[in-house]
Amino acid sequence: LAPEFQPSKPLSFRVDLSGTNSLIRYTGNPLARISEAAGETPPLFVFDSNTRNLIASPDEDSCVIPPGEGEKRWEHVAEIEELLLERKAARDSLLVAVGGGVVCDLGAFAASIYMRGMRLILVPTTLLSMVDASLGGKTGVDFLGYKNILGSFYPAEEVIISPPLLETLPQREYRNGLAEVIKHAILADDELYVLLRDRREEVLAREPGILREIIYRSQRVKARYVQQDPKEKGIRGHLNLGHTFGHALESLGNLSAVSHGEAVAWGIVKALDAGVEMGITDSAYAEELRELFISYGYTTEGLADDPEALVDASMRDKKKRGGELRFILQRKRGDTLFSPVERDILLRVLQRG
Ligand SMILES: NC(=O)c1ccc[n+]([C@@H]2O[C@H](COP(=O)([O-])OP(=O)(O)OC[C@H]3O[C@@H](n4cnc5c(N)ncnc54)[C@H](O)[C@@H]3O)[C@@H](O)[C@H]2O)c1
Repeated sequence: LAPEFQPSKPLSFRVDLSGTNSLIRYTGNPLARISEAAGETPPLFVFDSNTRNLIASPDEDSCVIPPGEGEKRWEHVAEIEELLLERKAARDSLLVAVGGGVVCDLGAFAASIYMRGMRLILVPTTLLSMVDASLGGKTGVDFLGYKNILGSFYPAEEVIISPPLLETLPQREYRNGLAEVIKHAILADDELYVLLRDRREEVLAREPGILREIIYRSQRVKARYVQQDPKEKGIRGHLNLGHTFGHALESLGNLSAVSHGEAVAWGIVKALDAGVEMGITDSAYAEELRELFISYGYTTEGLADDPEALVDASMRDKKKRGGELRFILQRKRGDTLFSPVERDILLRVLQRG
């Protein structure tokens, strides 16, 4: 590993989003940093019940929501706004969200609308939220059955990364985030790919130096895309590799049966299969990647019970453009493109499972 990634060394970098930027700060002591940033007025903390004791005991008027995607609701945003009003919070008061993507998205949304935007620090505590959800300014909640339908672009002033927070994370949640790490590697970081391929045991065991390296490299890939295209008008869409099939599978299936990461891993394999069918994707690359996902324990076959319904669900996916399904495909590692895919090809690929 490069010496600058040794766990004892502090590290920070800035993600610039057309004018507003987030400082990504690595520290072993999030609470000390938060106290320093907060100044005189104590911040309002938002946790879920699994993250409430991870960095500090919550004071009685912290907001603690129940865990899970089902709680990514407007009602909890309203609770936070009430607490802020009770505390007479001002625009320069600080909200700190400590949790996975649910708490980060919801807390950031609440901060973005209080007095049209108050100070915000995120402390992501899942691998997924460290490498993905906390970075890039997207906030939001689900509403009337629509995922992330209410939201805003509101980058946190600081994202505090403390890899030891992942020690208590269940392995299934860890693998959920690893699928996005693998995706970032194949989009734009060969060295990360080699590390994931050659040091799998250490990656799965969360060896501290490796963990820090995969988080940092993965964030750097996402940061590069969001800096180039903050509002996702073009190239940021590459980050959705595997997500059209993945979302379709999630929307049809029993949500608890397939995690988001599992759906994305499967979706990437299927997207590459479609690319091979169309003569776009190098077949040896598609095979190598399938094997990598299998070696990490992801299921790459046998999830598509109803291919017709899956194709229909993919068509409904929001990435539909002009009546054609615009897929994200790869020619090979690091070479990504948007392309329509014909229904017949989708069906053929999904009929394999
Ligand atoms: N804003 C974005 O750009 C963006 C990007 C990707 C995903 N997301 C959103 O992120 C959400 C998913 O995030 P997630 O996968 O982190 O799920 P999550 O927030 O539901 O967390 C998963 C589970 O892990 C628990 N947990 C969190 N940290 C823990 C820890 N350190 N130890 C033990 N348990 C812990 C949580 O309580 C929860 O039960 C989705 O709502 C998705 O829409 C947002």
